[in-house]
Amino acid sequence: MQAKIVAMQEEPKTMLVTGGAGFIGSEFIRYTFLKHPNYQIINLDKLTYAGDLFRLTKIASNPKLNYKFVEGDITDAGFVTQLFNQYDFDYVVNFAAETHVTRSIFNPAPFMHTNIEGVRTLLNAAFHIWKEPAENGKRFLHISTDEVYGSLEKDDYTFFTEEMLPRPRSPYSASKAEADLVAQSYFSAHNIPVLITRSTNNYGPWQHPEKLIPLVVSNALEDKKGKPIPIPIHGDGRDIRDWLYVGDHCAAIDTVLHYGKPGEIYNIGSNNEVETIEIVEKILDVLNKPHSLIKFIPFRENHDMRYAIDASKIKNDLHWEPKVSFDEGMEFTIKWYSGSLSWLQKLKSTSDFRNYYQKLVAGTDAEEAEEIIVSSADINDYAVEAAGL
Ligand SMILES: NC(=O)c1ccc[n+]([C@@H]2O[C@H](COP(=O)([O-])OP(=O)(O)OC[C@H]3O[C@@H](n4cnc5c(N)ncnc54)[C@H](O)[C@@H]3O)[C@@H](O)[C@H]2O)c1
Repeated sequence: MQAKIVAMQEEPKTMLVTGGAGFIGSEFIRYTFLKHPNYQIINLDKLTYAGDLFRLTKIASNPKLNYKFVEGDITDAGFVTQLFNQYDFDYVVNFAAETHVTRSIFNPAPFMHTNIEGVRTLLNAAFHIWKEPAENGKRFLHISTDEVYGSLEKDDYTFFTEEMLPRPRSPYSASKAEADLVAQSYFSAHNIPVLITRSTNNYGPWQHPEKLIPLVVSNALEDKKGKPIPIPIHGDGRDIRDWLYVGDHCAAIDTVLHYGKPGEIYNIGSNNEVETIEIVEKILDVLNKPHSLIKFIPFRENHDMRYAIDASKIKNDLHWEPKVSFDEGMEFTIKWYSGSLSWLQKLKSTSDFRNYYQKLVAGTDAEEAEEIIVSSADINDYAVEAAGL
């Protein structure tokens, strides 16, 4: 689903998208080709457990699009430098990151390495290779998150603004906050035209099943030999997130990339504050499944209770606003996951996911962790579904 996009008649540009095999990066590539069909996009992705080129099957097989995938690591300085030398990038949009908060609590090292060292490596290549970047229209957009601001109280009616100091509360958000500071330092010290966006929680198709909405849909619709699969929810599920449809996020990124002011941070949100439990119950109602599937598990340490963004700067200065209502976006998303179960099962059946899930529910009921593991027979349907996409 996408609000109508009008293709632009404009000069071709060459864009490096990092992390383009992930959830938001792949949607951004689709969005960019719809809006800027004559751009060239180089998608650099390490293909970690979260990256899947299947998300871009249609893009990669479309001969009209100037698209290339390059497998590699944003922390590999030699490789990144060679790429910057090979392509004269006009724009860099950095999505590549380790992104799952719970995983960062289990093992923070890859978060610190990719999220901080990765952005430094990319910016350093831009610094050494781009000639007079500001004058030559170069732009480096670093994708950050509202999680750098920390957590708000549930009933204090305040919102995160761009002026607030970062107060990260998880290794994930700490690594993203540090990356933002590194990016800002390349703007002040080296005049690299850096822009930073901080968005709220995204939802929409193609998200990894470790994240809330695809996990709830797939657990609700699957069963293991006739036995229902429980849906693990932290605490009482009363934590609040501000939910943004991924296509609206991509439109905001495109706007900031082309019209934002270098050196600035832009919050992106849609004033859609919803309790986690409300989302889960809504999905179960749509799928006609009982609420008894919900299995409350202990809060992860320092669980943030409320995120809420003040997005008035991007609305007032750049005239962006979200187009997809929460009801409309959720209806489409639930339908999409219901029709893409074999893709979700493919990701859920990996040993990586099994290990993660067992840690997630550890201390509650080890047997329930097993319930989620699909049989390999289910994966055979995947190829059939792939052919139709
Ligand atoms: N998902 C959200 O709700 C949300 C909200 C706000 C901000 N963000 C930010 O948006 C960006 C994208 O998030 P997402 O949800 O699409 O993440 P994702 O986990 O789905 O995708 C991340 C991608 O980065 C790639 N990657 C990881 N390490 C890499 C490395 N060292 N080199 C090259 N590629 C690497 C992975 O293979 C994957 O394709 C992240 O920077 C995240 O912090 C996400």
